[in-house]
Amino acid sequence: MAIIENHKTVGIPLCKEPKLSARDVSVFYGEKQAIFNVDLDIGANEVIALIGPSGCGKSTFLRCLNRMNDTIDICRVTGSILLDDNNIYDARVDVVPLRAQVGMVFQKPNPFPKSIYDNVAYGPRIHGLATSRVDLDEIVEKSLQRAGLWGEVKDRLHSPGTGLSGGQQQRLCIARTIAVDPEVILMDEPCSALDPIATAKIEELIDELRENYTIAIVTHSMQQAARVSQRTAYFHLGQVIEVNTTDKVFTTPQHQLTEAYITGRFG
Ligand SMILES: Nc1ncnc2c1ncn2[C@@H]1O[C@H](COP(=O)(O)OP(=O)(O)O)[C@@H](O)[C@H]1O
Ligand SMILES: [Mg+2]
Repeated sequence: MAIIENHKTVGIPLCKEPKLSARDVSVFYGEKQAIFNVDLDIGANEVIALIGPSGCGKSTFLRCLNRMNDTIDICRVTGSILLDDNNIYDARVDVVPLRAQVGMVFQKPNPFPKSIYDNVAYGPRIHGLATSRVDLDEIVEKSLQRAGLWGEVKDRLHSPGTGLSGGQQQRLCIARTIAVDPEVILMDEPCSALDPIATAKIEELIDELRENYTIAIVTHSMQQAARVSQRTAYFHLGQVIEVNTTDKVFTTPQHQLTEAYITGRFG
C-alpha cells in the first residue's frame, strides 16, 4: 500500500464554521515524513473522529493541533493550523495557554500523584484562574460535574486520584482538562485502557461535552466513531483519504481504501 501521489481528499474536508483549520500540514520525524499535505477543518461544537490503521499518523496529526509535537525533538511540522483565524504555529504564540485552550486527554489515564481536588485545581492554579479558595472550589466542582464524576468523588476530594478506577481516572483527566476552560479537547484513544462500562460512560460524556467544546477523537473502534462523532476522517499512510459525515463514511464510503478499512480488510 503506497502513498497515493497528488491525492485529493474525498468528501468534505472543510466546514462552514471551522474552529480549527489545518492547511497543507506535513509532519516529519527526522527524514521520515509521517503526514502529507493535510487540509482538514474541525467544526465548532462537532465531534470529529480520526480513524485508520495503526501507524497512519492519527496521533501525530492530533498532536499538531495543540503543538504537542514541539515536545518531540526530531519532529518538524510545516503548513498552518488556524484556531479561530490565528495560526498556532506563529512564532509569537505561547504554547502554555495554547495547550489550555486546546486540551488533550491521552490513551492511558495519567492523573498526577495528588489528590482528586489537586488534580483538577492544578491547571487553574498555574494559569491563575481563581482569585480565592471559594473560586477554586467552584471550578473544581464544576469541572468534576461536567466530567460526570462529581457524584462519585465529592465525599473524597482529598483522596489520591490514582486510587480511582480506570474509568474514573480518565474522567478525572477530562475534568483536569476542562478546569482550564478549553475550547477544544483532543482525545487520543481515550477508552483503549477501559472496560466496556467505563467506555460507555466516556462516550456518553463526549456527547454531552459537544455542547460546550469542539472535540477531535482518535479511535481504533469504528463502533465508537459511529457512536460519538458527527464527522469522520479516514487516515491512511499519513494522508487524509476521505472525510465525510460519520454516517456516510460507514454506510457509503467513497474511496476504496476507506471501504477496505471499514469492512475489515485491513486494520
Ligand atoms: N516520536 C516519534 N519518533 C519517530 N517516529 C514517530 C514518532 N511518533 C510516531 N512516529 C512515526 O510516525 C508514523 C505515524 O505514527 P502515529 O502518529 O503514532 O500513528 P497512529 O496514531 O495512527 O498509530 C509512524 O510511522 C510512526 O512510527
Ligand atoms: Mg496513535
